[in-house]
Amino acid sequence: MSPSAQEADQAGKVVVVTGGGTGIGRATARAFHEDGARVLIVGRSEAPLKESAEGRGGIRWLTADVHSPQAPERIVSAALREFGRIDVLVNNAAVAGFASLEHLDRATVEAQMGTNLIAPLFLTQRALDALEATRGTVVNVGSAGALGHRAWPESSVYGMAKTALDFLTRTWAVELAPRGIRCVGIAPGVVDTGVGVRAGMSPAAYDTFLAQMAERIPAGRVGRPEDIAWWIVQLTRPEAGYANGAVLAVDGALSVT
Ligand SMILES: NC(=O)c1ccc[n+]([C@@H]2O[C@H](COP(=O)([O-])OP(=O)(O)OC[C@H]3O[C@@H](n4cnc5c(N)ncnc54)[C@H](OP(=O)(O)O)[C@@H]3O)[C@@H](O)[C@H]2O)c1
Repeated sequence: MSPSAQEADQAGKVVVVTGGGTGIGRATARAFHEDGARVLIVGRSEAPLKESAEGRGGIRWLTADVHSPQAPERIVSAALREFGRIDVLVNNAAVAGFASLEHLDRATVEAQMGTNLIAPLFLTQRALDALEATRGTVVNVGSAGALGHRAWPESSVYGMAKTALDFLTRTWAVELAPRGIRCVGIAPGVVDTGVGVRAGMSPAAYDTFLAQMAERIPAGRVGRPEDIAWWIVQLTRPEAGYANGAVLAVDGALSVT
């Protein structure tokens, strides 16, 4: 990519992306990197993180379970040690899981809530001083499925975590505005990342799901990780500075049907 005004905007910025080894997180890390930012990606598995960073000197990786009590300190320290500052925190790591109420067990519910909701809370808390120093931005990755007042059978725990994350986005925007920190959310629609397979679907069932959803989505297709990553980058640009507490649906209009 040739130098441009956009590149100059992101040059020198430091971005932390949780779940940066795959899907939307990988696309987001690479999009920031292409815009001149330096990026720390975090995940539990080393191989996908390495692949995300391969050939990109400005992307560093750290293996960590975001829900472990030590994770916030490890992640923020690593970013400051590697790059000296944090301008953007993208709370993207999450696990999906499908079960109706009668089949939910405590361990699974607590693990899902821990990763999808509690972890972003404590990581953001630990990053506050660094974000204040740069007048930085927090981007919480929610889900278009949790917008509005619809029910979401067999995704109640995933949905309640995402709904609560949107609430945190709004609340943190107000709480943190005096410190110069913005907080925005992005709500992806159905994006082909393989997440369904990681959540327990067979590859064939996931393909069928994607094909069925493509027919229902007004845009006529499911999303690509890059569709979401582009917006995440835009939301952190200086020109986006007046957006605070907003949650942007990027879902081909599915959530307004
Ligand atoms: N794809 C969609 O259709 C869709 C729709 C709406 C919202 N979203 C949201 O978009 C975000 C990205 O989803 P995706 O589709 O790109 O899914 P994905 O490919 O499964 O990415 C999730 C990433 O989070 C990491 N992760 C999970 N648990 C973690 C933990 N405890 N600690 C550290 N890292 C952890 C995973 O890596 P490890 O397993 O190696 O840790 C993985 O790289 C999520 O917040 C998801 O809820 C996705």
